[in-house]
Amino acid sequence: MRVTEQSMEIGGRRLAYLEAGAGWPVILLHAFPLKADMWRPQLESVPQGWRFIAPDLRGFGRFLPPEGGRITMDDYAADVLALMDGLELDDAVIGGLSMGGYVAFAMYRLAPARFTGLVLADTRPQADTPQALEGRVRLREVLAKEGPAGVAGQMLPKLLGDATRRDRPDIVQQARTMIESASPVAIDAAIGALMTRPDSTPVLDAIACATLVLVGEHDEITPVPEAEAMQRAIGRSTLSVIRGAGHLSSFEQPDVFSRGLSDFLLARL
Ligand code: MLT
Repeated sequence: MRVTEQSMEIGGRRLAYLEAGAGWPVILLHAFPLKADMWRPQLESVPQGWRFIAPDLRGFGRFLPPEGGRITMDDYAADVLALMDGLELDDAVIGGLSMGGYVAFAMYRLAPARFTGLVLADTRPQADTPQALEGRVRLREVLAKEGPAGVAGQMLPKLLGDATRRDRPDIVQQARTMIESASPVAIDAAIGALMTRPDSTPVLDAIACATLVLVGEHDEITPVPEAEAMQRAIGRSTLSVIRGAGHLSSFEQPDVFSRGLSDFLLARL
């Protein structure tokens, strides 16, 4: 399937996104500190009857860097809702991986009626723990000293599973390139958004749409038991564990992930 690069001017800001397919819309939100391109494997195999749209979150990918430096998950969510407005999409299946999931929670808080379905991959509802906050401060220091390459060095061992790091140098290199090409301003702003995001646990009970939870078998950042607990707390939900993947499950095992996503979507038609 052909993937096209698109952009739209909204409120004086350029929103860039990748798009493939035609039909019922699915919005896919990327992880930190990556970009829309991490969803290319899913866009390239978009199921018949569906249209996949993957935006760059503010400052990442082809999106212009944020000016001030301070940003919240609600800002990212408002950008995506504005993109949906611009595309004249009243609603969509909305999904995110890790930070993309945090943005999906923020969108659900702001506009639950715009969800025809929800996909939560390798993510968690809770806010950062004190220990996680300390890790973010250290990551900011690494970013200031070594730039995005230092961030890639710190994060890749946690983002990718052991098998991927051992056997798939191509995937490791693609993930590294995405992180190294990220804007330091955008990474710093996103760290702030991660640190200040609210607890979305109360949202779980309110989620009324069909929900698919996916998690890499070896995800160290949001491990399987956390995904299981999140799935149990959401009414109409199912869980799919992606064998052989770490945290970036959609990128590490794209065929298995895409099959799980397709099965979920086709059951919605
Ligand atoms: C991500 O993959 O988006 C990040 O690992 C999320 C986080 O650090 O909480």
